[in-house]
Amino acid sequence: MSDIEHLVTDHFSGHAFPCRGGETLLNAAARSGRQIIRVGCRAGGCGLCKVQVLGGRYDTGKMSRAQVSEAEEVRGFVLACRTIPAGALEIFSQNETNA
Ligand code: FES
Repeated sequence: MSDIEHLVTDHFSGHAFPCRGGETLLNAAARSGRQIIRVGCRAGGCGLCKVQVLGGRYDTGKMSRAQVSEAEEVRGFVLACRTIPAGALEIFSQNETNA
């Protein structure tokens, strides 16, 4: 992890939180002390942490196709426990699978 911090803004809750370089989106959201993104397996399998990225650059690790289809991935859906922001990120934390 580095000292770089990226600001993540959630357009569902209206909250913003910092994400450290190399930190997952889910860990950063949990560290913020607010329940912005639901926490489940933390391993890319359960889908509870699925959010949509509206803008910004990021990298993802392996995500279960049962949780994020190719079509959803194209539309920016990611598993937050597998997503590492590479810059400021705009997200929408609520969706049909974690409502
Ligand atoms: S917490 Fe289970 S897929 Fe992210």
